[in-house]
Amino acid sequence: MQTNNMTHPLGCAFLSWLIVLYPILKVAFTEEEGVDGTEAANFSCAVYSYTLKAPSMNCTWNAGRTAPHDTQYFLYLKYYKEEEKECPHYIHDKRGRHIGCYFPNVTVNEKKVTLTVNGSSIESPVKKHKNITLLYELEKIGPPQNITVTCEMSSNCIVEWKAPPTSRREVRESYSCLSYQIKDEIRNTTDTIQSTSKNYPKNVRYKLRIRTDDKSKCPVAGKFGEWSEPIEFGTDPTSFHPTLLLLAVVVTTLGILLLFCICKRCHTWEKLHGPIPQPKDIYLQCEKNAEKAWMDLISTASANEKITVVEEVTANCEKHEPHP
Ligand SMILES: *[C@@H]1O[C@H](CO)[C@@H](O)[C@H](O)[C@H]1NC(C)=O
Ligand SMILES: *[C@@H]1O[C@H](CO)[C@@H](O)[C@H](O)[C@H]1NC(C)=O
Ligand SMILES: *[C@@H]1O[C@H](CO)[C@@H](O)[C@H](O)[C@H]1NC(C)=O
Ligand SMILES: *[C@@H]1O[C@H](CO)[C@@H](O)[C@H](O)[C@H]1NC(C)=O
Ligand SMILES: *[C@@H]1O[C@H](CO)[C@@H](O)[C@H](O)[C@H]1NC(C)=O
Ligand SMILES: *[C@@H]1O[C@H](CO)[C@@H](O)[C@H](O)[C@H]1NC(C)=O
Ligand SMILES: *[C@@H]1O[C@H](CO)[C@@H](O)[C@H](O)[C@H]1NC(C)=O
Repeated sequence: MQTNNMTHPLGCAFLSWLIVLYPILKVAFTEEEGVDGTEAANFSCAVYSYTLKAPSMNCTWNAGRTAPHDTQYFLYLKYYKEEEKECPHYIHDKRGRHIGCYFPNVTVNEKKVTLTVNGSSIESPVKKHKNITLLYELEKIGPPQNITVTCEMSSNCIVEWKAPPTSRREVRESYSCLSYQIKDEIRNTTDTIQSTSKNYPKNVRYKLRIRTDDKSKCPVAGKFGEWSEPIEFGTDPTSFHPTLLLLAVVVTTLGILLLFCICKRCHTWEKLHGPIPQPKDIYLQCEKNAEKAWMDLISTASANEKITVVEEVTANCEKHEPHP
């Protein structure tokens, strides 16, 4: 009983102390950590290596939901075992509050970095937002560069491109670890290849876009790059449509008939006006007509037809060669 009487007042005193201390500790803790909801929200960063110069990084954030109106934010970047560096170029809203940052030159390696957004306000303490990350995981890979299409005399067109620049030295030294995705926007198909070139049959129309694939064997893996602008090449397949081919045959036949008539007229004219003073001129005229018709047909007729036309035209016109 005596021991109970002794411990009771002691426990009571201890509890009283706790009751007094708790709010003090809580205030001190809040001062240190800031009020919930005041921290920068929707924080995100992206690293860009669009040029072969140093990669850059842009970060953006929104003011916290419960952040006082006078809150100002500051961003710090800390590389592994290095001093914190403050953002060199803030992006601010109309009221002058920092909502983003531009780092013109960041070092990207396999070491983690710490990004911290802290803030100040007269009204209440602002909570810190901390993000520990790897910069290469934030990299946005641009589209492949210098895309060219070469259609030689052969039946193929070759599409070639260069790997997009990246912040990672290991990747730059072995671009062959990248894979590419090629989207055919006319046929709605997608191919994945390892090389930086691909052959396409010439007599088909193409509209392609290329990007780096997320299954690349590089340390940039796990993300798609940006699509290139569309590349268009090849012959419109409609010009090889069977009905158009038939039309070409009809036009060719009509052309031959027309030529025949023209030459016939030459002949008639010759008959009506007796001997021609300069028969060579008429022959040349005929030849010119034939040449013009042939030129008109060249685009539609097939090789075989061209030969037929030439032969027939020559045959027709040869009739008008002056007889000695
Ligand atoms: C850190 O920021 C990056 C870039 O916006 C984001 O992808 C990642 O999820 C963030 N990580 C944490 C723990 O907030
Ligand atoms: C980027 O920063 C690094 C290290 O501070 C420096 O060596 C390099 O010259 C800088 N590059 C550019 C393009 O400013
Ligand atoms: C990054 O921010 C800077 C400064 O606002 C801007 O000029 C640049 O275009 C941004 N880069 C990208 C890729 O959004
Ligand atoms: C964060 O982004 C989401 C989606 O865009 C938006 O609904 C939300 O309001 C943002 N949060 C803040 C605090 O701005
Ligand atoms: C934010 O953090 C930096 C670096 O830790 C510090 O120098 C600065 O005083 C802090 N700013 C505020 C408003 O807490
Ligand atoms: C792309 O072409 C330009 C101009 O022809 C050249 O200066 C540049 O080095 C090429 N880029 C690559 C990645 O080869
Ligand atoms: C293309 O194909 C994808 C899936 O392969 C499909 O989701 C998409 O709707 C198609 N687009 C068109 C325009 O047909």
